[in-house]
Amino acid sequence: MSGALRLFLALEVPEAHRREMERRARTLRRSLPPARWVPADNLHLTLRFIGATDPDRVPDLLGAVAPAFAACEPLTLRLVGGGIFPPARPARVAWVGVDGGGALHRLQREVAAAADAALGLEPEGRPFHSHVTLARPRRPWKRPASEEFARAFEGPVGEPFTVRAGVLFESRLGPGGATYTALEELALGGGA
Ligand code: 2AM
Repeated sequence: MSGALRLFLALEVPEAHRREMERRARTLRRSLPPARWVPADNLHLTLRFIGATDPDRVPDLLGAVAPAFAACEPLTLRLVGGGIFPPARPARVAWVGVDGGGALHRLQREVAAAADAALGLEPEGRPFHSHVTLARPRRPWKRPASEEFARAFEGPVGEPFTVRAGVLFESRLGPGGATYTALEELALGGGA
C-alpha cells in the first residue's frame, strides 16, 4: 500500500499529567536498565492500534467510529499504579494504569468493533488493559527493575481528569522515535 497512513485511535492525557509522568521517569531512568522512554508529548492511552491504512479509507473509518465516541458521555479517568507487560515475566513494556471504570471499557470495545468492521480488520482478541506506555526496555527488565518502576507509580498520579474526545492519530516512525499527529477529534457525548 503506497502512501498508507499508520493510524491509531487514542485518548489524550492532560499536559500536567504527562509532565508528572515524565518527571518521575527522569529520576527512574538514571537507575533502571536502558529503555526507550516515551517523551511527554507522546504519552496517551491507545484504544485501538489500526496500522497501515489507505488514506481513501479514512472517511469510512471516521464515519464508523464517530457514533461510538458520541454514544459515550465524557469520561473521568485516573492514572493509578505502574506495571509491566507481559505480567510476571521480564518486562517488555512499562506502563501507568488508567482507571476509567466500565465506561472506558465499553467505549474501547465499541470503538474497536466499529473500526474493525469499517476496515475489515481482525479483532485483537486480547482483553483491553487500559494503560499509558511509558518505557520500552531495550532488553527485558528483570524483576527488581520492574518493581522499582512500579514503586515509583504507586497510588494516583495527579488528579482525576475528564476526557471529552477521542483522537485519530497518525504515527510516523523515524530514527529519533515516533511522531504522532492528531488527524481528527471525535467528540464524546456528541459534542453537546
Ligand atoms: P501501547 O501504548 O500499548 O504500547 C502507537 O504506536 C500506539 O499504538 C502505541 O502507544 C502502542 O501502544 C499502540 N500499539 C498497539 N499495538 C501496536 C502494534 N502492533 N504496533 C505498534 N503500536 C501498537
